[in-house]
Amino acid sequence: MTARVQICNLFKTYYRRKWWFSKAEEFPVLKDVSLEISENKVLGLVGESGCGKSTLCKVLLGIENATDGKVIVNGKNTQQLSRLEWKNLRRELQVVFQDPYSSLDPRMNVRQLLCEPLDIHGLYPDSTEREKVLKDTLSSVGLSADYLTRYPHEFSGGQRQRICLARALVLSPSILVADEPVSALDVSVQAQILNLLKEIKRERKLSMLFVTHDFAVARFLCDEIAVMYKGRLVERALADELFTHPLHPYTQALLAAVPEVGGKLSAAVESETENSDDFACPFAPRCPRVKEACKKAGNELTQVTPGHFCACVLAKEKNK
Ligand SMILES: Nc1ncnc2c1ncn2[C@@H]1O[C@H](COP(=O)(O)OP(=O)(O)OP(=O)(O)O)[C@@H](O)[C@H]1O
Ligand SMILES: [Mg+2]
Repeated sequence: MTARVQICNLFKTYYRRKWWFSKAEEFPVLKDVSLEISENKVLGLVGESGCGKSTLCKVLLGIENATDGKVIVNGKNTQQLSRLEWKNLRRELQVVFQDPYSSLDPRMNVRQLLCEPLDIHGLYPDSTEREKVLKDTLSSVGLSADYLTRYPHEFSGGQRQRICLARALVLSPSILVADEPVSALDVSVQAQILNLLKEIKRERKLSMLFVTHDFAVARFLCDEIAVMYKGRLVERALADELFTHPLHPYTQALLAAVPEVGGKLSAAVESETENSDDFACPFAPRCPRVKEACKKAGNELTQVTPGHFCACVLAKEKNK
């Protein structure tokens, strides 16, 4: 199966100064991240707040430059593209952000919001053809053509997120990056948007990077899941396999902490108790199963069972 997106050994380091005259300190956010997204597949990226999920999206979208490593989209290395090549690639690579309230310009009506990307890319100059594209795109996200003259403040959060989705889809992209697109919405609206995304993916054969905190959401939509911890991928597998056989203690702890109606809520992952510098594995200071071996290994993703990658040295030993 062809990979639409290949991210190879990606590093991203930010530099921060405490005071304007002090020396900038390195702040590594992404550390050796490699992943692939195949045609017509959804890769879910799960991990706690601040682990680097949005930074990965920004590097993939070209909003931030990588410090090291490669990002290949539709066979093109994005670090070697000219401005014009990037512009053409952006048609293929669209994004939906978390907050539908700040994603839309309040001064533009729906027609203007949908026409803006078409104008930037010089698409459908013929007005009848353009009108048809606008109506078809709105109907594909479950909105009526009557909404074309309305402004963002006249819509609910769920409807606004549909407009954001329409704005991304009007360019017929092959890849959609969705950075927590439903977490600002209430549960029933979340379900509508998730169903919509699933249908759009099937109809348009979209590849998707879907960022979420929520394992239930990831399970519903994603074909494959990658779990991130402190800027590193710690586990990656097909969704069914990951939910039935989670191998990494971090994934196990996250799954145990998912609340269920009527169920008992397990304690979330403990905070760090030991010095992380003593361990090769970044999760070791919080791991309930930490062993001497974790001082030397545990930060490299390796295949434990076919198609199931894990960075835990203990999981690897157990499955030998
Ligand atoms: N421009 C920046 N300069 C310096 N540090 C940054 C910058 N952007 C993000 N960071 C830091 O990088 C880390 C990862 O941020 P990121 O937004 O990728 O997290 P996240 O996993 O998306 O979190 P959340 O789930 O809360 O959205 C954070 O500690 C953040 O403070
Ligand atoms: Mg984020």
